[in-house]
Amino acid sequence: MTSSTEVQIYSKPGKVAKRVAKQILKLTEESAQPQFDIALSGGSTPKKLFKLLVEKHKDSIPWERIRFWWGDERCVPPDDEKSNFKMANEILFSKVDIPQNNIHRIKGENNPEEEAIRYSEEIAENLNLRHGIPVFDMIILGLGEDGHTASIFPGQLDLIEDERTCAVSEHPLTGQKRVTLTGKVINNASRIFFLVTGANKALRISEIMNDDEAAKLLPAYFISPENGQLIWYMDEAASSQIE
Ligand code: 6PG
Repeated sequence: MTSSTEVQIYSKPGKVAKRVAKQILKLTEESAQPQFDIALSGGSTPKKLFKLLVEKHKDSIPWERIRFWWGDERCVPPDDEKSNFKMANEILFSKVDIPQNNIHRIKGENNPEEEAIRYSEEIAENLNLRHGIPVFDMIILGLGEDGHTASIFPGQLDLIEDERTCAVSEHPLTGQKRVTLTGKVINNASRIFFLVTGANKALRISEIMNDDEAAKLLPAYFISPENGQLIWYMDEAASSQIE
């Protein structure tokens, strides 16, 4: 598989979510593999996508063949308002017929360093390898206003090349501990879907897409699958400053 990058721009966030939901249906239906491994992003952008997966595709997506993982998680209990798992569980998993064993959450309630090791081991036990690195069939990523993705923040670019599968990071403003996939695993995925909507992301998108010098400080700039497809799904607001 060669690597490729694509940009798709839609008028509104709802249309971005609709397109991505259709792609998830298409790819999972077409996949000949017994399991399809998707790593989810947290934050608010994916909420529309999760709602559409329930409303439009609840009875057609082969849930029993999809294993859900996370690209990152806040180090909080699973019932905490800040938990990425809690959000996905409330909007999506509690509404569809998916085996509980298919949901592989990062246990935010555990000691962060121990959980980074445990989750890395759980990934290694379940995923295929490419060049000795676990391969996700799809990783969905968001973009922070500071240019972070997953929980790799500016100033933590060492986590892009880090040899480990997962690492502990810290939110630069709140100090909140996170467990995150490293860039090594993210860039080994077969498909990376960046979902970016809203005018508040337009500056960082323009820096990245225009290959500005400033982009080289942004973790999201270094997301580039070695042997996979990268698609940026954006709305017009987020892409408004691309030259
Ligand atoms: C997280 C996410 C993070 C998120 C971006 C964008 O745990 O917060 O994984 O990387 O995708 O911060 O967040 P919004 O979608 O809320 O803008």
